[in-house]
Amino acid sequence: MDKILVEGGNRLTGEVSISGAKNAALPILTSSLLTDGWCTYRNIPDLKDIQSIKLLLENLGAKVETDGDCVRVNASGLSNHEAPYDLVRKMRASILVLCPLVARLKKAKVSLPGGCAIGARPINLHLKGLTDMGASITLEHGYVSAAAEKLTGCEIYFDMPTVTGTENLMMAAALAQGTTVLRNAAREPEVASLADVLNQMGADIKGAGTSIIIIHGVTSLNPVSVSIIPDRIETGTFMTAAALTQGDITIKNCEPEHLSGVINKLKMTGSDIHVSEKTIIVKGPDKIESVDIKTLPYPGFPTDLQAQFMVLMAVAKGHSTISETIFEKRFIHVSELKRLGADITVTGNIAMIKGARKLSGAPVMATDLRASASLILAGLVAKGRTEISRVYHLDRGYESIEEKFRNLGASIRRTK
Ligand code: EPU
Repeated sequence: MDKILVEGGNRLTGEVSISGAKNAALPILTSSLLTDGWCTYRNIPDLKDIQSIKLLLENLGAKVETDGDCVRVNASGLSNHEAPYDLVRKMRASILVLCPLVARLKKAKVSLPGGCAIGARPINLHLKGLTDMGASITLEHGYVSAAAEKLTGCEIYFDMPTVTGTENLMMAAALAQGTTVLRNAAREPEVASLADVLNQMGADIKGAGTSIIIIHGVTSLNPVSVSIIPDRIETGTFMTAAALTQGDITIKNCEPEHLSGVINKLKMTGSDIHVSEKTIIVKGPDKIESVDIKTLPYPGFPTDLQAQFMVLMAVAKGHSTISETIFEKRFIHVSELKRLGADITVTGNIAMIKGARKLSGAPVMATDLRASASLILAGLVAKGRTEISRVYHLDRGYESIEEKFRNLGASIRRTK
């Protein structure tokens, strides 16, 4: 299995260009199932998760063509309504085919995604919403089966904002009869970008990006040609790397507006940040100040950057706390960071970090996508060599990560 080797101590400088957002591309690719004809998507990142969703779409009967960062999908031959365990277990986001399948084929059978390293991750809110729209749902043999002769618009209230839940139900509502109102909807930019794409297909969706989304159902949707928004989590990972290494990084092709919570916190650490259209320049401070963070649904501080920020706090001057409010097991990186010398105590959903630690390289294990990124960041400032195994997690969500870090001056390579 591949390993990533990082020799710490280099200051990162230069330019990095941000790839398309994985979590925007995944729902947008599944939205192709709502149309007949070729949809064209540009700026699709080359990631394992994207390969997984393409395989799943093909398995359902869609044609998929890839040419560099351009992916074309034609779902006019959509025939199979079943997403099998083998494909879904590789990626939870496969649940995003549930609502498009019910909307197009009147039925779907999708393997239940189950939990993952970071939490139980139920899909009860997706299922409740779909039931409210008139689908009958059964859970049997590890599969969720949903059927509806027609979907009817209704009021759906989410007990908590769910990103893929909002996206799934927005896709169902786009082709439902009548009006659907999603309340306490997720406000993430990826939700708004899916709504933009659906509207370009001919849907009638208002309010995406706010907590109330109103969808007037239409009878059919047309193929589109669109570009995927930049990945805000990749952007935040490079911003944190600059802050951590006293670096000076110019981050291009990003969307600063999607990162205001992160920019605010990084400024509080003493980082110097300049924002212009599609570009963020981050200069790391000589002495990193400690700040507390609490992960929250957008526009709060993203849970997907919590692990990376924890590394920064491990070497910052002073003490800090990180509260994780989204996923119940998202501190699995803590024990690995401790192996590198971090001083972190976890009580419930709060991590207490005593800063000013000098990290030293060691073999560590990646446990999930964002935890893996945090281990690379830790390796960048640790003395000596950090050897990260199980890097397949990283390949699920960061495009060309070693190359991008190497171009900024990091000593990082992959071994087979
Ligand atoms: N939740 C429920 N019931 C549901 C759905 C969610 O209780 O039916 C709970 C979850 O357990 C969690 C909270 O609601 O406590 C929020 O979960 P959400 O549904 O928003 O997460 P998700 O849609 O499964 C997406 C991203 C994650 C990201 C979260 C939070 C995609 C494909 N995945 O997951 O991305 O962490 O939103 O922002 O969009 C990653 O990229 O590394 C990643 C994990």
